[in-house]
Amino acid sequence: MDVSANRFDRLWADCKDDYTAAVTEVGSSGWYVLGRQVADFEAALAAWCGRETAVGCGNGMDALEIALRAAGIGPGDRVLTTPLSAFATGLAILRAGAEPVYCDTDEHGLLDPAAAAAALAADPGIRAMIPVHLYGHLADMPRLTALAAAQGIALIEDAAQAIGARRDGRGVGADGHAVAFSFYPTKNLGAIGDGGALLPATADMDRLARSIRNYGQTERYVHAVIGLNSRLDELHAATLRHAFLPRLDTWLARRRAIAAAYLAGIDTPHVTLLPGPDPEGAGWHLFPVLVAPTRRDAFLDHLKRNGIQGGLHYPVLIPDQTAMTDRGAPIVHGDLTRARRFATGEVSLPIHPYLTDAERDHVVATVKAWGG
Ligand SMILES: Cc1ncc(COP(=O)(O)O)c(C=O)c1O
Repeated sequence: MDVSANRFDRLWADCKDDYTAAVTEVGSSGWYVLGRQVADFEAALAAWCGRETAVGCGNGMDALEIALRAAGIGPGDRVLTTPLSAFATGLAILRAGAEPVYCDTDEHGLLDPAAAAAALAADPGIRAMIPVHLYGHLADMPRLTALAAAQGIALIEDAAQAIGARRDGRGVGADGHAVAFSFYPTKNLGAIGDGGALLPATADMDRLARSIRNYGQTERYVHAVIGLNSRLDELHAATLRHAFLPRLDTWLARRRAIAAAYLAGIDTPHVTLLPGPDPEGAGWHLFPVLVAPTRRDAFLDHLKRNGIQGGLHYPVLIPDQTAMTDRGAPIVHGDLTRARRFATGEVSLPIHPYLTDAERDHVVATVKAWGG
């Protein structure tokens, strides 16, 4: 059995008619960059998230950078984030000209509100905070929102892995913060290529973000700020809107059903399940488990021998990456004990929406059969 982390062949078989119809529509329209398709997708995405506006851009990392810059964050500012994320989270902060600073995660692998409070109390240079909704689990937004409000700092949610996720009845975007999404192909809403979007927190931020994504242009040939070329293509906007967004609820339901089956079925002392703070509401972009760090390679081998592709998210913490340490010692508040437990012992099991019931059962049986 081939139980890969993703099965894009099945995605294509399911979506190709809607996808090619959207491509034909764009091709025949004669308008390929920042046109009606982007505007329509932005409106559909905003509505899906219960928000007024969305701003399409080139990828999730740019969405974070643009959100930071549109929130007024730049050189001299520090941005508090989690060390356990895709490198893009830290890189976006650097690209905005700011300095990433890190504190530990909670037991779910999400930015820990207590550690964040301690960091904010110790470091008045922190001007923004980026919690990451890792694995599709929402961070503790009520507590982080209260912290950010008390300090008067910006709060930007890295929701690259969490479109459609809920926690205690509240969805991504419900609190009105700036939110960044990625449409990288593996994501819960993925394009066939790169794409991203942000939900701006205010009308001013919306205006500035639209300008920054397009060379800092405010009107034709008028450049008010130093911007980027980070535009969502008409092709991606059209295919996301017509082929993929209409399937997102079904895909999320399938991810949740697989997660529920794993949580109910995987019962072994050698593997620690991570249901997260709200297993029914989570977006389940990934299904992480923890094993003993000394046995992780053996577990991955066992999965591989049974045709199952395990993943690691993430084996090296962002502040430990050479690109970060080469700049000087990264700023870390407190210790990173819980984040390091994930870096050394986490393994992700396959959980894409095209996984069959037989493959799901094979994953459960294989994990249960592992002797540790
Ligand atoms: C948590 C997180 N943040 C940011 C990104 C960056 O998104 P992109 O690859 O679209 O730039 C990713 C995806 O790779 C991610 O998983």
